[in-house]
Amino acid sequence: MDINQLKKLAAEKAVEEVSSDMIVGLGTGSTVQFALEKISEKIKKGELKNIQCIPSSNRTEVEALRLGIPLTTLNEAVEWKIEEEKKERRKEEKKEDDIRKTEDRIQKSEVGSRKSALSSTYPASSIQNPESLNILHSAFYIDLTIDGADEVAVGHPDPDLAYRQTGLSGEGSKQINLIKGGGGALLREKILAQASKKNIIIVDESKLSKHLGIKWHVPVEVIQFAVSVEQKYLESLGAKVVKRKKADGSDYITDENNFILDADFGEIKNAEELSVLLNQRAGIVEHGLFIGMTSVLICAMNDGEIRMQKSECRM
Ligand code: A5P
Repeated sequence: MDINQLKKLAAEKAVEEVSSDMIVGLGTGSTVQFALEKISEKIKKGELKNIQCIPSSNRTEVEALRLGIPLTTLNEAVEWKIEEEKKERRKEEKKEDDIRKTEDRIQKSEVGSRKSALSSTYPASSIQNPESLNILHSAFYIDLTIDGADEVAVGHPDPDLAYRQTGLSGEGSKQINLIKGGGGALLREKILAQASKKNIIIVDESKLSKHLGIKWHVPVEVIQFAVSVEQKYLESLGAKVVKRKKADGSDYITDENNFILDADFGEIKNAEELSVLLNQRAGIVEHGLFIGMTSVLICAMNDGEIRMQKSECRM
């Protein structure tokens, strides 16, 4: 099948997971483009109502606006979530208060009433004690993010590492690892992935690899001030490094005003370890290794079959 047909198949399968009232993260790239078109079509048909989307790049933002997809920002999504949590907490407080009042009434009506053990076990109101609201605060503000990838490797990682990262038993876990950033949007893409309850990655078969690095270099976003020193650092790790350029020969500048160094490490045997090394550098804003962040991989195989791989390490 034609590659665009495959991308469309994978994208449309992913959009089946989007439902009304969701906050949806929108990735970047030619595969995601098909997802945007499907979301737009469903909104127009009234099949999707009240969704709010957060684009991962200026390019996606422009496309979404063109297609009439309602947009919001990550900051707004966080505000909503905090408000929702406060409302939930208030409901809980009200319930506790009602129980206490009912108990008091019963006690008063009983001759020689005894104090209920239950009433003394309730915690102090968290409305009076706003600190306790933090307990409810979760790290996920987006219901679902749909994004593409440049290279995908599904493997059985070191069980100990999987355990440390997820708190689940890593025994035999299937971890889905990616290289992203071919379109230059890796920084915001990773921010959305970290803030999402569920991450669906859509690819065609050509993106599958046994190990990362076989088919794609690792895009590394660096602040302009540090470009030379970080290039030297990447080279010291064994990479061949090229500063990304635009078609006209000028420097490629990301949406966040940084440079991208494309680092060719060859076949990467331990992507987790490399990711940790890249995370340590002050001048590296972010890199394109997405380790264990994917919930579901939707892959359109060359014959049109859709294969879905669920991660056992990620919600
Ligand atoms: C954007 O920065 C990338 O991470 C894309 O997700 C990736 O390049 C996939 O793009 P295509 O769907 O165009 O291959």
